[in-house]
Amino acid sequence: MYSACLRMNLIASMRPYWSVQKNLQGQFRTCCAGHTSDKISTNSSTKLKDGPSLQDFLKYSTEDLRPVEIGEDGTVPYLNEDDVWGGRRKVYFETYGCQMNVSDTEIAWSVLKDSGYQRTESVNDADVILAVTCAIRENAEQKIWTRLQQFRAMKTRRNKSRPLKVGVLGCMAERLKKDLLEREKSVDLIAGPDAYRDLPRLLSLTESGQRAANVVLSLEETYADVMPVRMNAGAPTAFVSIMRGCDNMCSYCIVPFTRGRERSRPIRSILEEVRALSGQGVKEVTLLGQNVNSYRDMSEQQQQLAGSPTNLSAGFGTIYRKKKGGLRFSALLDRVSQVDPEMRIRFVSPHPKDFPDEVLQLIRDRPNICNHLHLPAQSGSSQVLQSMRRNHTREAYLELVQHVKEVIPDVSLSSDFIVGFCGETEDDHNQTLSLARQVRYDNAYLFAYSMRKKTHAYHKLMDDVPAGVKQRRLAELIDVCRKGMAEANAERIEQVHLVLVEGLSKKSPSDLAGRNDGNTKVIIPNMDIPDEVGGQQCSAMKAGDYVAVKITSSTSQVLKGIPLAHTNLQGFPSMTLEGQKAVKISST
Ligand code: 5AD
Ligand code: SF4
Repeated sequence: MYSACLRMNLIASMRPYWSVQKNLQGQFRTCCAGHTSDKISTNSSTKLKDGPSLQDFLKYSTEDLRPVEIGEDGTVPYLNEDDVWGGRRKVYFETYGCQMNVSDTEIAWSVLKDSGYQRTESVNDADVILAVTCAIRENAEQKIWTRLQQFRAMKTRRNKSRPLKVGVLGCMAERLKKDLLEREKSVDLIAGPDAYRDLPRLLSLTESGQRAANVVLSLEETYADVMPVRMNAGAPTAFVSIMRGCDNMCSYCIVPFTRGRERSRPIRSILEEVRALSGQGVKEVTLLGQNVNSYRDMSEQQQQLAGSPTNLSAGFGTIYRKKKGGLRFSALLDRVSQVDPEMRIRFVSPHPKDFPDEVLQLIRDRPNICNHLHLPAQSGSSQVLQSMRRNHTREAYLELVQHVKEVIPDVSLSSDFIVGFCGETEDDHNQTLSLARQVRYDNAYLFAYSMRKKTHAYHKLMDDVPAGVKQRRLAELIDVCRKGMAEANAERIEQVHLVLVEGLSKKSPSDLAGRNDGNTKVIIPNMDIPDEVGGQQCSAMKAGDYVAVKITSSTSQVLKGIPLAHTNLQGFPSMTLEGQKAVKISST
């Protein structure tokens, strides 16, 4: 059935990453960012040198990790169906990092469910523990190493009649490959982000005491035909993965190496999933991708549209040659937002280079596409942006912000920043502080630079900002962003916002929590409210309801308000409340 070489058949892969961290509002998110590179670095030999090598896409071959053996007749020794059947063994998932990892967990679970596994919420009850991991910064990996030690202790305590298997999935598996198995003997399997279809086979190998690995990166895998099993079934919000990978090669970023090249899921399968979610009563869909607005569907029928080059934001460039053809993000957004006019559409994480006017205008004109843009700046210094290979200057970024604000006047903005990047001076840092003050973000994700092996910065630049200085700069940037967020939120007092109720507030069961169009959390008392403005009939609010809320107080993180009436997304903009006319986000 198996050849001896399958004892440890490793399929090496690499893909890009992104991670979800908590932002200044305390929300989790998927991360990714944009990039640039200086002109010298854009020649193809440099690209080849810095990027994932061909080997990264090929089967890995070392003494310990042998490739799949191909039979004399050219066939691959596949397993029988029975061999990969889970037999109702219980699998426990632990997900780290970004929203993309949550989405990947849903895909991995869908694959295993179809293969006869059961899911458990209790780690003690598990036959298999799968950690879906993040590698973006050293501390993200450190957390996982600590957790793996705990899993090892659990394995040792386990009765022999009920063995426990431990698997590491995702970016850390991809980054470390066999080194991970060498360092942590309790790990039975590793699978990179493009290898989740292979999980039943890999798990079946572990059953006979083997250690298994598949870290092969794919140029095509989008899991388009795998219907994810939602981890939060019943929630009014859902995520839909639309593309994977990153071609940008920002000099600090490990993502292109752990998640591989950009590829887009065909629009047909995205629309199918969004329709299904609408049918289940989901009221908000967030489109997901490492570079979500670089979406470019090249699937068969769409290739006929090939021809015109992708439009970029003015003043932004790319490390790669301009891509031509395919169905772009604006077309996808147009189609997705027409599925259900009562369904809010968000997207994360975009790259600032991919906001041509057609995307901005669509966001402005379509009531159900939220007026919230994530525009990762990373730094406010053109010099640092150049060494980060972001392909834009401070000025181009500020012009984009200005343009976005002109096209979408009530837009809410968020950003990612890295402080203490290689060579960052006090002057560079002050430029970042001044850019954050000038833009005044509604939310921000702030990080101290963490050197990652394999990246351009690791090979070519010095991580020369001392840890203490990074921490001080981080604290200064947090302070500036918090002040901006507090000011922006205070200006919203007295406005009326459209809020989608998500459920009970974590802090008080007598309150409900939801989000406004700009993605800021809004807390309201849990009470009966009129079914329409001025109506006598009242009813309770529940998760999935749209409510018109008058904002009464604020902090830098949260808005608080009084719910005025039930409403809906299409009716809200024309609704008149206490003499005020409500607009998409707010009424002033
Ligand atoms: N160190 C610190 N932050 C990083 N990010 C990406 N790579 C690193 C790194 N090596 C941040 C960027 C990106 C976000 C997802 O994570 O800000 O946009
Ligand atoms: Fe985002 Fe740049 Fe990393 Fe790609 S390389 S994921 S654009 S930060």
